[in-house]
Amino acid sequence: MKAMTYRQYGGPDVVTLSEVEKPTPKPNEVLIRILATTVTTGDFRARSLNMPAGFRLIGRLVFGLIAPRQPILGTELAGIVEAVGADVINFNPGDEVIAFTGGAYGSHAEYRTMPETGTIALKPTNLSFEEAASLSFGSMTALPFLRDKARIKAGDRVLVVGASGAVGTAAVQIARHFGADVTGVTSTSNVKLVAALGAHRVIDYTQTDFAMTGETWDIIVDTTGTVAFARCAHSLKTGGRLVAIQGSFAQTLGIGKPSKASGKEVIAGYVPARPDDLRYIARLASNGELKPVIDRVYQLEDAAEAHAYVDTGRKRGSVVLTVATGEFETATGRPAGVLAS
Ligand SMILES: NC(=O)c1ccc[n+]([C@@H]2O[C@H](COP(=O)([O-])OP(=O)(O)OC[C@H]3O[C@@H](n4cnc5c(N)ncnc54)[C@H](OP(=O)(O)O)[C@@H]3O)[C@@H](O)[C@H]2O)c1
Repeated sequence: MKAMTYRQYGGPDVVTLSEVEKPTPKPNEVLIRILATTVTTGDFRARSLNMPAGFRLIGRLVFGLIAPRQPILGTELAGIVEAVGADVINFNPGDEVIAFTGGAYGSHAEYRTMPETGTIALKPTNLSFEEAASLSFGSMTALPFLRDKARIKAGDRVLVVGASGAVGTAAVQIARHFGADVTGVTSTSNVKLVAALGAHRVIDYTQTDFAMTGETWDIIVDTTGTVAFARCAHSLKTGGRLVAIQGSFAQTLGIGKPSKASGKEVIAGYVPARPDDLRYIARLASNGELKPVIDRVYQLEDAAEAHAYVDTGRKRGSVVLTVATGEFETATGRPAGVLAS
C-alpha cells in the first residue's frame, strides 16, 4: 500500500511516498481503508523532535533514539472498515469509522488496523470523511484536560489562549458544551472564526493583553506555551486552574507549582486516549455541538507540503490529507464543519 514515511528526523522533506506492506487484521482487529487523515502538531513534533524545553531527550526515547521507530505518521483518520478479524463483534465491513491513533501514529497510509476495543468509533453521518478525520486530535486533548483534570462545570469562566488551533477550536466548543462562559484569545484574522465556534467573547491579542484587562477566569487553557503561571496568576480566580497544554518540562514535573495557600493550580502533562471519549466526541459532532475546523486540504502524496504549512504554527484547526478519491464520495457537500477561510 501507499504510505508517507519518514526514516530520519528533520524538516518536512524527510517525509516521502513509499510502498509498504498492507497490514492484515489480527482476530481482534479491524482493517480500515483510510480516506482522510490530518497533519497535526503531534506529527510536527515526532518528525522534527522540536519539543518544548526539556523534552528533546524524552522525545528520542519515545519516538526512537537514532531514527524513528514508527515510520508512518498520522494521529487520526476517517475511513471504511474493509475487513474484520474472526473475533470482532462490534464492527462490520462497510462501516464508516473514525479512529484516533494518537501516539501510535500510522494514519498517513491507505490502510491501518485497529483493535476493535481501541479508539475507534462510528463516523458521524453528518460529516464528510475530511471533516470526520479532523475531529479527534484537538478534542481528545481538550476533553480530558477540561473535564477530568480541570474539573470544568457549568458557569465557569474559561479563557482559551490559542483558540484558533486544533486544540483551541476544540477547547472553545467543548467548554461551551459544559456550560462555561468562554473567552477566546487569537489574532485579528481569526477573531471571526473563534466567535463562529461559540466563544462568548474574543480577545485579539495583537490589540489587548488578557492579563492586563483586570478580568479573572476559573480556567485558563494555554495551547501556545506563552502563559507562564507568573503571567496569569492574578487573572485566575481563587481555586482557578492554568491548563498548560504545551507545558514546559518543569510544569509537567510540578516544579514551581503554586502553593496550596494560593488556592490555584497548574495542570500540565498528557492525557490518556479513551475509546469512550472518542464516542463522546463523535456524539457531540453528530448533534452539531462540535464542528470540525478545516484550514487546508492536501493529497496524501503532498504530505511534505502539508507538514511545511503546519510547521508555520499559524494553521487554523486542522490540515487534512485526502487519501483516496473517486471510488468513494469523500465530501458530503453539507457544510457541517466550519471552514477556516
Ligand atoms: N499535552 C498534550 O497532551 C498535547 C496534545 C496535543 C497538542 N499539544 C500541544 O499543544 C500545542 C497546540 O497544538 P495545536 O495542534 O492546537 O496547535 P496549532 O493548531 O498549530 O495552533 C496554531 C494556532 O495557534 C495560534 N497561536 C499561535 N501563537 C499564539 C499566541 N501567542 N496567542 C494566541 N494564539 C496563538 C495561531 O493563531 P494566530 O495565527 O492567530 O496567532 C494558530 O491558529 C502544541 O504545542 C502541541 O504540541 C499537547
